[in-house]
Amino acid sequence: MNDKNWSKLWLDYDKKLSNEQSEDSFSVAFDGFSEDHRIIKSAKNELTEVFSKLFKGGYTTEIENAGKSVCIKKTDEIKNEGYRISADDSKLTIEASDENGVLYGAFHVIKSLLRGTGFADIKADEVPSNPLRMMNHWDNMDGSIERGYSGRSFFFENDNFYINDRTRDYARMMASIGINGIVINNVNVKNAASYLITERYFDKVSELSELFADYGIKLYLSLNFASPIELGGLEVCDPLDENVISWWDKKFKEVYENVPLLGGFLVKADSEGRPGPFTYGRNQADGANMLAKAIAPYNGIIIWRCFVYNCTQDWRDYKTDRARAGYDYFKGLDGEFLDNVILQIKNGPMDFQIREPVSPLLGGLTKTNQMLEVQIAQEYTGHQIDLCYLMPMFKEVLDFHTHCKSEGDTVADVVSGRALNNKNAGMAAVINTGDDANWTGNYLAAANLYGFGRLAYNTELSSEDIAREWIQLSFDLSKENEEKLVSMLLRSREIYEKYTSPLGIGWMVTPHEHYGPSVDGYEYSRWGTYHRADHLGLGVDRTDKGTGYAQQYYPENADMYNDSDTCPEELLLFFHHIAYDRKLKDGRTLIQYIYDSHFEGEAQAEELYENWKSMEKEIPSEVFALVCHRFEMQIANAKEWRDQVNSYFYRKSGIPDEKGRDIF
Ligand code: GCU
Repeated sequence: MNDKNWSKLWLDYDKKLSNEQSEDSFSVAFDGFSEDHRIIKSAKNELTEVFSKLFKGGYTTEIENAGKSVCIKKTDEIKNEGYRISADDSKLTIEASDENGVLYGAFHVIKSLLRGTGFADIKADEVPSNPLRMMNHWDNMDGSIERGYSGRSFFFENDNFYINDRTRDYARMMASIGINGIVINNVNVKNAASYLITERYFDKVSELSELFADYGIKLYLSLNFASPIELGGLEVCDPLDENVISWWDKKFKEVYENVPLLGGFLVKADSEGRPGPFTYGRNQADGANMLAKAIAPYNGIIIWRCFVYNCTQDWRDYKTDRARAGYDYFKGLDGEFLDNVILQIKNGPMDFQIREPVSPLLGGLTKTNQMLEVQIAQEYTGHQIDLCYLMPMFKEVLDFHTHCKSEGDTVADVVSGRALNNKNAGMAAVINTGDDANWTGNYLAAANLYGFGRLAYNTELSSEDIAREWIQLSFDLSKENEEKLVSMLLRSREIYEKYTSPLGIGWMVTPHEHYGPSVDGYEYSRWGTYHRADHLGLGVDRTDKGTGYAQQYYPENADMYNDSDTCPEELLLFFHHIAYDRKLKDGRTLIQYIYDSHFEGEAQAEELYENWKSMEKEIPSEVFALVCHRFEMQIANAKEWRDQVNSYFYRKSGIPDEKGRDIF
């Protein structure tokens, strides 16, 4: 690991600025900020590197005589981590109230220049939508990555911890898109010998926290709730047990003595085999608050995941419903969590499917800090082989009206802290990086990496604007091809959805691996399929007559979902069991829709590939070839999905395709 060359992705100054020099000299001056501050130094370094490529006259300390000068000025008028930029031909001013704002302003200037904006035309007025903008790595200490599709970890190998130039480039890239918190290890924390909260790793954890701090990023760790047993030799990890409480008190003291810059911890408890408070008859608030109290003296936070469900539950009774679990476990605890606890809630009630309704916990909780968790690692959305640009999905989630208030009630309002008036709030993504040279396996999957950061910083940006920004920074395309690639990205999610699982039903994936079709598959469906198909119809009745899941929403949404006539069609099978011959809005039957969308999705995957091939001349050959290979795999995948899903439902329903196409 780590010995591969690595791409600079959207910060490739050499590539982007090779022909753009002028004779000007330049200077960077500060008003109100200390040049010695670590983040200010980083900002200055970045600006200096870019300017020295652009302006041949070189750096001068004489600001009055500089052909191009940047003035970085402190002003309290701007909110934390925000910035304002104004410029004329020779002078550009970045204003901010804190160092992170300066760094983000500097990257804004740099990215504008890389995209070809003239110096005098750079203008901005930005404040972050979310206080916390985090990446969650699922990297294991042995170097593997849970749900990693782009090589191995660039932090860990063989229980060793690596920090090098690549790590710095990673931090720079994250800062350049506004990320301010990173969890470096998997939520499934296993193998006590390699727990990061032990002396063995303190030096490295601390070193990395310092490196991240240069870029305004706080380091966080995942922890194992059973650490008092596994590390401390205690018999229990009961959160109300005095010995357990004092073990954590001591542990956090030791951790913070060694790693004072640590932001806090992310915890997965009582889920998929992870230990947690349930073992002792305690609830999730007991568990989270115990840790939160112990970490409070160090201003640390506990991010507690709501992905709590019983993966072994027997749900043949048709009443048990995994989708209900998060709300059932957490809603009753609303208001009981300490202020330094944030509940991290997956975007949907299930698990990062290509289409799910928004989790009813988002905004369903009104007295609890909460943040949104999404996944840019494409676990269920094509493994970074298939093209699937996820910003349109995230925008839908953010724009969803929870109805927790009469206005200002969208998910974006809730997770930003605006709706509930709280500071501990934000967005996190399960990241899609690995040690592949291009970081994300499929070069085009970097659009999700870039996009998540941008969207978390500014939830008002459109998917299209983000795509265009990323393309301009990553390629040198003619306007025509730029538009083509924007459109490919924007269509990709819908295409993936068409050839995989229809109308919100989800799953149907190969067990464990989660790539490719297995209609009855998926590891936790041994007690009955997740799609509930029989010879008459398909879908899960989650209405008041079924599992009652729809009733977890506020009445406006509950009523909408409860009625199959008002339920948005793309989620029809998530909420309803529908007969194959039922007519959908456009007059087609459900079964015909399934056939058509699978044929269409596959054909459109082929179109994506054709579009890509038509751009060959303008794409670096290595990138071109690599992405071609991915598209070939995507098409094979799409064909397999099309054929398996169509033949499965043909055999179940006995209804032939109206158009007489081959269904095998
Ligand atoms: C999914 C995924 C697991 C992961 C889990 C989680 O179930 O398949 O690998 O651990 O989500 O979010 O904790």
